Amino acid sequence: MDFDTELKQTVRRMYDAAARKSGGLLSRVPLNRGRELLAGLGYRPSEFEQLPKKVIEFAFPCSNPLPTIRKLHPESILDLGCGSGLDVGILAADRRRTIKMIIGVDFSRELLAVGRRLQAGPAAGRLQFLQADLTALPFSGTHFDCISLNGSFNVIYHKAEFLQHVAALLPPGGHLLINDLMLREDLPPGFTAELTNWTWNVAGALFPEALTSMAAKASLSLVHFYEHEQIPPVCRGEVLLWKKK
Ligand SMILES: C[S@@+](CC[C@H](N)C(=O)[O-])C[C@H]1O[C@@H](n2cnc3c(N)ncnc32)[C@H](O)[C@@H]1O
Repeated sequence: MDFDTELKQTVRRMYDAAARKSGGLLSRVPLNRGRELLAGLGYRPSEFEQLPKKVIEFAFPCSNPLPTIRKLHPESILDLGCGSGLDVGILAADRRRTIKMIIGVDFSRELLAVGRRLQAGPAAGRLQFLQADLTALPFSGTHFDCISLNGSFNVIYHKAEFLQHVAALLPPGGHLLINDLMLREDLPPGFTAELTNWTWNVAGALFPEALTSMAAKASLSLVHFYEHEQIPPVCRGEVLLWKKK
């Protein structure tokens, strides 16, 4: 089995298992999770407290993309690696917004089953979920004003190819928003050869400059790079890209 296939299989199993176990993926790790994690990343309790408990319990965001998404006023949003549906759930429940269609995609059947609970709530109608591999999306000919990845970009092995594929789903002027760990220092030699270092988004992290130049080859220009928090040798970062008109 090649590295890419093995990585996908491992990541999918890891998130499926996380959603099956009460306590979740981080239960044995002394890190914030659930409400504490979300509040620490700047999600507002008033917006996430309205979601089903399990959506919060099994959310694994890298940072909070919602302020940026809201500023873009998109009518259609594609959330790639939506997990239990945290971001799509909050966006779809906000009736004041211009959003008409939100699709969340993930390959974890178990996390999607949690997310689908949102379709019984105020989000119903404009929120859909799809089980698919992000590197083989079935949307040819469809465009989304905003495509967001929150914690899923770094586990994509063939990133240049992926960016080309995703850029084709944006209309001219559309935005791609990536929230993930980004490098601030070189990783130790040999680190990226270990599969387990990839599953937690570290081995697949890029320097923001490397990501920007890879994106430029897919006709995507940098709008902004924000550094949310330093966690050497990486940071929680946000890169907003724009497809040239
Ligand atoms: C760190 S979690 C973030 C989940 C969600 N965005 C959130 O904020 O809770 C990464 C998600 O990406 C999904 N994922 C990773 N690689 C994928 C792939 N190749 N195809 C589909 N989903 C993928 C995982 O199943 C997982 O749900």
